[in-house]
Amino acid sequence: MTDEEALLQELLEAHPTRRRALELIVGGALAALAAGSAIPMAGYLTAPVRTSQPGGGRLLVGDLRDLPPGAAIKVTYEDRPALVLNVAGTVKAFSAICTHLGCVVFWNQDSQFIQCPCHDGRFDTNGQVISGPPPAPLPAIPVAVGDERIYLGSA
Ligand code: FES
Repeated sequence: MTDEEALLQELLEAHPTRRRALELIVGGALAALAAGSAIPMAGYLTAPVRTSQPGGGRLLVGDLRDLPPGAAIKVTYEDRPALVLNVAGTVKAFSAICTHLGCVVFWNQDSQFIQCPCHDGRFDTNGQVISGPPPAPLPAIPVAVGDERIYLGSA
């Protein structure tokens, strides 16, 4: 143990409340850092659940029963990531490519908005920018629902 470490140890032992305060500050900072980075990373790393159909056209992306209100799925549409949302019973779809610098956005289930992991750009359930640097809304993708099935694109 160096002299500086010994002195610090002696000071912390002499002032237990300072030591506890320091532990709380460091622990709190580490917890906030972990939570703040885990949610965007999870959304960024989640692989799309569907792939595009060869030749384009309408793409079956899922069953409405698997997409309850307030939920979203990430799919691939025309070789690009897209988000399909159930907004209070209305299914909507948007490009999942952020209009700022092109990062892949994700659905923040707890807060019910679309979020970009790169610079914290946020979009509402209409794809409109709520906050952050994105200069434009997320492009909408046509959606059709028939027989409880969700399709993207035009017929
Ligand atoms: S790339 Fe999305 S906010 Fe910057």
